[in-house]
Amino acid sequence: MTTATATATAHANIALVKYWGKRDAERMLPATSSLSLTLDAFLTTTTVTLAEGGTAPGSEHTATLDGGALTGGQLAKVQRFLDLVRGLDGVEPSLAARPAHVTSLNTVPTGAGLASSASGFAALAGAAAAAYGLDLAPRDLSRLARRGSGSASRSIFGDFVVWHAGDLADPERGDLTSYAEPVPAAADLDVAMAVVVLNAGPKSIGSREAMARTVATSPYFPAWVEHTEADVAEAEAAIAAGDLERLGDLAEASAMRMHATMLAARPAVRYLAPASLEVLDAVAALRAAGTGAWATMDAGPNVKVLCARADLETVTAVLADGGRRRVLPALPGPGMVVERQARP
Ligand code: PMV
Repeated sequence: MTTATATATAHANIALVKYWGKRDAERMLPATSSLSLTLDAFLTTTTVTLAEGGTAPGSEHTATLDGGALTGGQLAKVQRFLDLVRGLDGVEPSLAARPAHVTSLNTVPTGAGLASSASGFAALAGAAAAAYGLDLAPRDLSRLARRGSGSASRSIFGDFVVWHAGDLADPERGDLTSYAEPVPAAADLDVAMAVVVLNAGPKSIGSREAMARTVATSPYFPAWVEHTEADVAEAEAAIAAGDLERLGDLAEASAMRMHATMLAARPAVRYLAPASLEVLDAVAALRAAGTGAWATMDAGPNVKVLCARADLETVTAVLADGGRRRVLPALPGPGMVVERQARP
């Protein structure tokens, strides 16, 4: 039996026009399109190796994350994803019969509350597809990564990326047309991101459950959906024109609207912490003093600040506030790469 193994890397991405809410949880189809920036920070490296003799009945996929064995719901999610990969057209039956072992390493600072499902499922999609002998085009890899975690579809590509909602009328067509792809940018658009790491405190609700609650109970959710498609088109236009101010303004508005729609859920979903609001004030003060800086926030209290690359040092220093806050500077980064593979 041949060794079938592959290693892939992927980086986190931060949405500038947010994804919040699914229209089809099974196929992981989003209610709206979204647009992001892949960073050169927060790397995940994942190796998938197919078991040599493991076709014994009941033998199952196993996985470790940063050295610890995954269990429970986390393991089940990875197992479901691997079953999806080995069930795809083009996988040899002899390979499909072999369970996989996954080893995943994150270079996310521990306790930073930045563990990213985006980089994780993008790297897993790349490594698992290669280990099971599939040769997928990047667009199909993004569709596959989407099934693990919606935002992972965008980490298949580097720099600015759009994830299309896809065909809204027909779920089968939706699955085929909900993919990510790179967004062409003006040559002189030189952006950066300062990631402000705030004390995560007790773990709040996960994004999957929070989205479902928002879709089911927030009266603001239809308004969020109605406006987001236009925001994606405007962000694409701003990126093509190299207009950082317009892009930043839009990104901050999209983040605030996303949090508004979830604050209106019952019970409310609130990721904003007092320390987050202080950073939002600091970002507004930077702007008032003439430095272009725009804040965005995801499913946690951390604040990510978009700025020009030339301003990254200033923005990082101001937000660090003399060492009172931890701020990680980041630049645009690459897409998912299959680093090594031994193909059967
Ligand atoms: O990581 P996911 O796919 O469950 O979605 C998280 C969504 C946000 O990070 C809050 C926004 C986004 O578009 O990434």
